[in-house]
Amino acid sequence: PLITLYQCLREAEKGGYGVGAFNVNNMEQIQGIMQAARQTRSPVILQASRGALKYTNLTYLKHLLQAALEENPDIPVVFHLDHGDSLETVKTAISLGFSSVMIDGSHLEFEQNVALTRSVVEYAHERGVSVEAELGTLGGIEEDVAGKVKLTDPVQAEEFVRRTGCDALAVAIGTSHGAYKFKAEPKLALDLVPEIYRRVRVPLVMHGSSSVPQELVEEVNRYGGRMAGSRGVPIESIQQAIKLGVRKINVDTDIRLAVTAAVRKVFVESPEKFDPREYLGPAREAIARVVASRMEAFGAAGHA
Ligand code: G3H
Ligand code: 13P
Ligand code: NA
Ligand code: ZN
Repeated sequence: PLITLYQCLREAEKGGYGVGAFNVNNMEQIQGIMQAARQTRSPVILQASRGALKYTNLTYLKHLLQAALEENPDIPVVFHLDHGDSLETVKTAISLGFSSVMIDGSHLEFEQNVALTRSVVEYAHERGVSVEAELGTLGGIEEDVAGKVKLTDPVQAEEFVRRTGCDALAVAIGTSHGAYKFKAEPKLALDLVPEIYRRVRVPLVMHGSSSVPQELVEEVNRYGGRMAGSRGVPIESIQQAIKLGVRKINVDTDIRLAVTAAVRKVFVESPEKFDPREYLGPAREAIARVVASRMEAFGAAGHA
């Protein structure tokens, strides 16, 4: 059934596990993720960015998500807006049937972030929709020294959550989006997590949580790709974060890598093939594999 983020993460808190939030843009991604949820019996968050709303032209996304729900009546699913930028975008997502939205005012001054988030919370809660907000800016800890990156301040976070009434808080602890998260060894400020959680008492969200498995990167490169120096968040760090209060783990890049590796492999190994099903099918299988392994690692498996 469709559930809210609030419901989903409350169960996760009770069970002490994390729920993967996977980005979707097309049918194969949605199907691959739902296949993994079925196989592992996991609750799941399907999230769409503004880019995804645009790419799918809204109507397709709406009906693809409905299909996922209809085909999987036993799996608890959240439809979530990822990185919403305005009340306008939030309204669009809610009109499509989303049960949760993120409003990302993390680039704004504190007071402006509070005001924007508060306005979204009022609108969403009136409609039974959950809200994730963000405080701090994503980026590597080394960049923090240069003042470009602001890790989440626990004291500010407490005031932010109290004043906005958001249901979940995305924190900046040294992760970043994409396949190149760290220059050298992965470094995260995991010590911030228990301190933030103790003060805010709402489930925490980790963006930029792809692990960028080297075997997928190697596969991409083996079949003609060119990715050098990519690095992700080690699974053990995510598991540590889950123990400390992180409940929603955002993963997009790992799915992109799985798709690209699978498609490139078919193109190189079977250059005579030209039926899209012959490469999008394997891509869908590859998505299911990486997502299922994340669901197991985050402890969500068996909780649907
Ligand atoms: O946070 C970004 C997500 O990976 C979505 O990416 O904006 O390119 O769809 P996108
Ligand atoms: P990754 O780029 O690490 O997959 O992060 C995705 C994300 O945070 C989406 O909001
Ligand atoms: Na999000
Ligand atoms: Zn993100």
